[in-house]
Amino acid sequence: MTTRPRVVITRKIPAACEEEAGRLFDAVINRDDTPLSTAELQDALRQADGLLPTVTDKVTAEVLSAEPLRARIIANFGVGFNNIDVNTAGARGLTVTNTPDVLTDDTADIAVTLLLTVARRAVEGDRHVRNRQWTGWRPTHMLGAKVSGKTLGLIGFGRIARAVARRAHHGFGMRVIFHDPFPPRPEDARALGAEPRDNIEAVLREADFVSLHCPATPETRHLIDSARLGQMQRHAFLINTARGDVVDEAALVAALKAGTIAGAGLDVFEKEPAVTPDLLAMENVVLLPHLGSATMETRVAMGMRAIENLKLFFAGQPVRDRVV
Ligand code: 8YV
Repeated sequence: MTTRPRVVITRKIPAACEEEAGRLFDAVINRDDTPLSTAELQDALRQADGLLPTVTDKVTAEVLSAEPLRARIIANFGVGFNNIDVNTAGARGLTVTNTPDVLTDDTADIAVTLLLTVARRAVEGDRHVRNRQWTGWRPTHMLGAKVSGKTLGLIGFGRIARAVARRAHHGFGMRVIFHDPFPPRPEDARALGAEPRDNIEAVLREADFVSLHCPATPETRHLIDSARLGQMQRHAFLINTARGDVVDEAALVAALKAGTIAGAGLDVFEKEPAVTPDLLAMENVVLLPHLGSATMETRVAMGMRAIENLKLFFAGQPVRDRVV
């Protein structure tokens, strides 16, 4: 019997994926489901042929300095891979893969969920009813911001942004504008009713809702800072389903306090799971615990996609989703 490659899976994953991983690999699963420490991640790289981490595993240069390095592939469970120092991984001869496509619709759905809930005060209204504060219908009670027909500004125009544009334009009759340093073909943008803008500021100045869809890289860290928040309209809302690092969270809190913008819908945070305490007390902010891809169907699809990458790699074939 040939020995199966050993793969360390850093968190609990859906049962169907655990079964598939167990069928194909000598799978070591972190049943505690608590994030692995630097030392534990290093042990994994010393003892396994492959690592299947998530956004909660910081695969830093220090982690990657583990010796002797047995692992040859890191198959990330997620499309974003800012948790991995991919340059160091590449320099150490590791292949890194991610899981694009399968979570596009769910993440777009969460962006739209945040947009609607913050604009229409849905979470605030739910709290109001539960707290038994509701005294009855009245014409001026809990008035929110209309969504249909408004202008949505997208920062980044990749897969997820386009899925948001489709929902916003075809579903809510919104006007969609965007900026992306790698713009799409004009006909692709037109099909989604989306118009390009030359820079981020132009999007911020014009949009009633701004939704972030760029990857977290050193270049996009604090892309939305106090100067850029100052470019947004006072009635505008900021939606972030990308990565917390893209927004200067302290500047966002200051802008919300000053009324520079009207509100925010956030699925990701700079130091998650820690959230700036001021945000917790704000009614005009909706906070979700990084739920972008959190449906059973999608988490299974993500796990299977990571497993597919591992399987191809160990079979000596090209992986499907190579990052480096
Ligand atoms: C994942 C995400 O749940 O895929 C991503 O980039 O942000 C999330 O949807 C997370 O990354 C899991 O590792």
